[in-house]
Amino acid sequence: LANGLGITPPMGWNSWNHFSCNIDEKMIRETADALVSSGLVKLGYHYVNIDDCWAELTRDHKGNLVAKKSTFPSGIRALADYVHSKGLKLGIYSDAGYFTCSNTMPGSLGHEEQDAKTFASWGIDYLKYDNCNNGEIKPTTRYPVMTRALMKSGRSIFLSLCEWGDMHPALWGAKVGNSWRTTQDISDTWESMISRADINEVYADFARPGGWNDPDMLEVGNGGMTKDEYIIHFSLWAISKAPLLIGCDVRNLTRETVEIISNKEIPLVFKPKRSGWKVWSGPLSVYKTVVLLLNRGPRPYSITAQWDDIDIPPNTVVKVRDLWKHYTLKTRFVGNLTATVASHSCKLYVLRPIS
Ligand code: DGJ
Repeated sequence: LANGLGITPPMGWNSWNHFSCNIDEKMIRETADALVSSGLVKLGYHYVNIDDCWAELTRDHKGNLVAKKSTFPSGIRALADYVHSKGLKLGIYSDAGYFTCSNTMPGSLGHEEQDAKTFASWGIDYLKYDNCNNGEIKPTTRYPVMTRALMKSGRSIFLSLCEWGDMHPALWGAKVGNSWRTTQDISDTWESMISRADINEVYADFARPGGWNDPDMLEVGNGGMTKDEYIIHFSLWAISKAPLLIGCDVRNLTRETVEIISNKEIPLVFKPKRSGWKVWSGPLSVYKTVVLLLNRGPRPYSITAQWDDIDIPPNTVVKVRDLWKHYTLKTRFVGNLTATVASHSCKLYVLRPIS
């Protein structure tokens, strides 16, 4: 969407994966504090995004959305002020239907202009726009109404389309939003995570500045996968240029989680692709190439990336950097790169040609 936002994929935090409807303003403020004190803000994790369940079930007498009095007594504008004072941005959630998915708050269908104005007046920076209770009206009819309403609202607001991929939003989302979900909801399991990545990969060519494929938010740190599986999760999301929205409780981060979500070495890949089930790759600047060797199987496996499969000219000699071990291998490689990869683990490399 040509609103100047999302030039790179958005980074931040969202309440849903860990807290679902158990949210309140104190927890959101503490999350903002934790993003600052952990140093995650400096790495680019700027958005603090409130998901479903923040509003009262009924609008006020003027038809405005109202923050839930029991959990957000100070109101959303005060929360936005607080979050902004920490150098962060505040995201909120609504639904392109009559009620949100939790059925505990109204949706914005038919109230788009009024709600967009409300969000702008509160100082909202990001809107996640869900798809429940939609009267079976086509998403291509419902979503652009909010796009136009936000464009007229007087504030630049990132628009995240949460259509779950059914109507292939990658094909129409670039004019409507800054990101679009390509999949149904993720859960904190290996199968769920890896299948989101595979579904999302089909749309790789549609990602671009201002409009990104969204295979759903991160589960890293929520406890349902092993460290190696979370490393695969983060690697795949990063190289696919997915939004990096942390979905765990950042007030209680383990060293392991910090190590994973703070890996600065992983680049944004211009055109990531998958060759077979084991090798993901993509070109980088100055003829470098990123390569992910992925072992989905139950035993260690020797995986080879052939230059032909990863679009490196034959006979090119490369130096290899391991992006998770953070070191450059002594060996030079030509023609192919082979490594033994443990079960449910990956290797993530950058290959740099040498003359
Ligand atoms: C469905 C979305 O896909 C989830 O990410 C979350 O926002 C829930 N709805 C909230 O009800």
